[in-house]
Amino acid sequence: MSPNEPSEQATNTFPSGFLWGAATSSYQVEGAVREDGRQPSIWDTFTVERGMDSGETACDHYHRWPADADLMAQLGMNAYRFSLAWPRIVPDGTGAVNRAGLAHYDRMVDGLLERGITPVPTLYHWDLPQALQDRGGWTNRGTTDAFAAYTEVCLDALGDRVDTWLTVNEPWVVSVLGYRLGLHAPGERDLRTSLLVAHHLLLAHGVATQRIRERRPTARVGIPLSLFPNYPVTDDPADAAAAWGSDGYTNRWFLDPVLRGRYPADTVELFERLVGPMDWVQPGDLDLIGARPDLIGVNYYTRRRISAAPTDGLPWRVLPAQAGVPVTDSGWEDVPEVFYDLLVRLYRDYDVPLLITENGGVWNAEPDPDGRVRDTGRVHALREHLLALSRAVDDGAQVLGYLHWSLLDNLEWAEGYTQRFGLVHVDRATQRRTLKDSAHYYAAVIAANQVVDATDDVAGKP
Ligand code: FCB
Repeated sequence: MSPNEPSEQATNTFPSGFLWGAATSSYQVEGAVREDGRQPSIWDTFTVERGMDSGETACDHYHRWPADADLMAQLGMNAYRFSLAWPRIVPDGTGAVNRAGLAHYDRMVDGLLERGITPVPTLYHWDLPQALQDRGGWTNRGTTDAFAAYTEVCLDALGDRVDTWLTVNEPWVVSVLGYRLGLHAPGERDLRTSLLVAHHLLLAHGVATQRIRERRPTARVGIPLSLFPNYPVTDDPADAAAAWGSDGYTNRWFLDPVLRGRYPADTVELFERLVGPMDWVQPGDLDLIGARPDLIGVNYYTRRRISAAPTDGLPWRVLPAQAGVPVTDSGWEDVPEVFYDLLVRLYRDYDVPLLITENGGVWNAEPDPDGRVRDTGRVHALREHLLALSRAVDDGAQVLGYLHWSLLDNLEWAEGYTQRFGLVHVDRATQRRTLKDSAHYYAAVIAANQVVDATDDVAGKP
């Protein structure tokens, strides 16, 4: 049965104490890149080198966070996922702590708590201090030691008020887009390097987890993973095998070490055939990486359609959207039933609590002459994904909360400001915020703790 057809048992409700909120990351929203002692990150460098849109101003959230937090409270949100900018807190990557940078997050955490919003910080959402990149960045194992020290600084400053910590956002995207495909900072293109970096990112998660458990034993810790379910395009066993191979590459390469303490054997075999032995894995690494987290952060957007055809050195091909399947304005298939399948699979295969740390899509609606932003596609997708989520919960998945990507229209990395993911529209020229129809709809769901109908009345509240 499709997750979106309510069954007799479907309640369309959520557990009590469910976290409802939205997510952002420092470089994508803050701006103020030269303020209060912040030093450049690899994304400042990369966007200049490539002549891309940068986070120089972004949503000016560094200054406007109190008003943005008011909006969250107005929508009834009780959680906010944001990231701490390493180049604000330890601007050279190691050594001196920048008290002014830390004070910003200290105030923000207090401000969120005052509004009844649980802060859910991510320690690393891609803005590596450039000073560390100059010493090899994530290819240098020493960067994991620097990350451990930076984590301790964050824990000492905020740990008395933060009870849920997220470590390293999406190691797959960092390693593959940053080091194999050259699309993200720092723009390298080499499979072996990308695997080395993936290991160091996992190790960084492991050492941060260890530090959090030492210093804040009652806190929860998790890693947000980009999880792309892989579907074979035909019934041909070769396509099924290719999809399983691609699943090893995108999903199990991270889930298995974190939750089972080992890399998946089939994927190890493939990679070692392609790049030689993974001699960067040292004794004890997988014990650190495999110390079970309290939760997995699920970042879910779409699926991958896979056929068996060697492409760019890997034994599968990723196909574009299937004809007839709805897509977002960035061309990603909008497939809520895949979200259901993913959550149930995570429950079945790994039996770990989940926090939805990202889910959303691009719909580029602009304000109509009456000022209303009718992002009907997002309203519909949000409703369908929440129905799928609620059904997964009914069927046994333990889900702690849902954090929509994103609160604000923001800098979508290499895509710049061309893709609007926000519940809140941000006017690039004026920074004016406008609650979209989807924000009003989301507020109605939060108030009911239940998936409600998307009537024009609910969505279009002024
Ligand atoms: C994820 C990133 C997030 C955002 C969304 C659209 O991969 O974690 O920063 O860019 O995609």
